[in-house]
Amino acid sequence: MSDVTAVYYYRPKTGVDAEFAAHAICEEQTTGTWTDLSTVNEKTRYVHALDGEVLEVTPAGDGGYVTKIRYPYEIFEAGNIPQYLSVIAGNLFGLGKLETVRLTEITLPRELAGSGPKFGIEGVRRLVGTETSRRPHVGTIIKPKVGLNPKDTAEVAYQAAIGGLDLIKDDETLTNQPFCPLIERVEEVMAALDCAKDETGKQVLYAVNVTTGGDRIVECAHSAVKAGANMLMVDVLTAGFSAVQALAEDPFLQVPIHVHRTMHGALTRNAEHGIAMRPIATLVRAAGGDQLHTGTVSGKMGGKAEEILGDNREITREIPGLKPVFPVASGGLHPGKAAAEIAKLGCDIVLQAGGGIHGHPDGTAAGARAFVQAAEAAVAGISAKEYAKTHTELARAIAKWGDS
Ligand code: 3PG
Repeated sequence: MSDVTAVYYYRPKTGVDAEFAAHAICEEQTTGTWTDLSTVNEKTRYVHALDGEVLEVTPAGDGGYVTKIRYPYEIFEAGNIPQYLSVIAGNLFGLGKLETVRLTEITLPRELAGSGPKFGIEGVRRLVGTETSRRPHVGTIIKPKVGLNPKDTAEVAYQAAIGGLDLIKDDETLTNQPFCPLIERVEEVMAALDCAKDETGKQVLYAVNVTTGGDRIVECAHSAVKAGANMLMVDVLTAGFSAVQALAEDPFLQVPIHVHRTMHGALTRNAEHGIAMRPIATLVRAAGGDQLHTGTVSGKMGGKAEEILGDNREITREIPGLKPVFPVASGGLHPGKAAAEIAKLGCDIVLQAGGGIHGHPDGTAAGARAFVQAAEAAVAGISAKEYAKTHTELARAIAKWGDS
């Protein structure tokens, strides 16, 4: 059985030796603490089987250091992702010897990586019918993110569907509030998508946000699927990795899981402290998410192309028995930005726009068409400006937001 390794960037407090600081992390997260222990003695020396090991300490070139730590396989409870996090990302963040510390990468042995997504990229592509074309998927987040009642939500969904989108989803703050009860919303939206299907022949996915307390999420998802939902959405960082895992492992829930990462900025944004997106992505795949927001290169959240690409590689790289997760680029996109996203992130991507569709001067259906046209143009290697000469909706979008 191989062990787990984790990589950390850190800055020791002034006067603290870098090697000493790395060992402080390693010991705190395994068998040690701030002092020696009478409970670890000749009689209990078997405990040392769970000692960690500092594999390397390297200066990062900016005053900080990078360390790689090995954690023994046996310290982990297989399948218990919250426990994995307590080991690799637990107390260490509060250690007084460290000025800052950031978990940047983890490697899990296959035995700890779970059964992963039920659908993955291929499964979702099969549902949408893009296994052969391999084109990017295009979707929308209903906007405003909260406030619409179920009927009006369904009307927006219908417009988006007849505009040609593959996916419609709730936003991260819409769950089961009285102004838009979840089951009523699912029934209305799915009926609207059926009407759209009668016109277009295409079944559109609707990811309903079932994020709720751990004691209720599976039951909520069951009710949503019984009401017709063909995709589920969950906010992984607010609900927890075990929420995704509970949905993914439930045999009744045979629909893909769309994973939103709201709140990630609190962990990922500081380049010297917190948790990078990479380990979060690794754990979402282990938990069984089918689609995961990993950021955009040109949108409103300011993602770095190299990091996003690395995160996308992490969730799509070949791992025997673990399906690849479909990366989602979302946040501040509009038709003029589709080409930049596809050029940098490739075609195995779900492009999503909320404001960039529902803010179109001619409404949601036109906005959806413009986004579809922009993706088509990018895949064909035609500039959005050129394609807009023969595609009115795209031309109107570019006139409002520009072509980059
Ligand atoms: C998301 O879920 O990524 C955001 O709600 C995107 O919304 P926007 O496209 O309007 O920025």
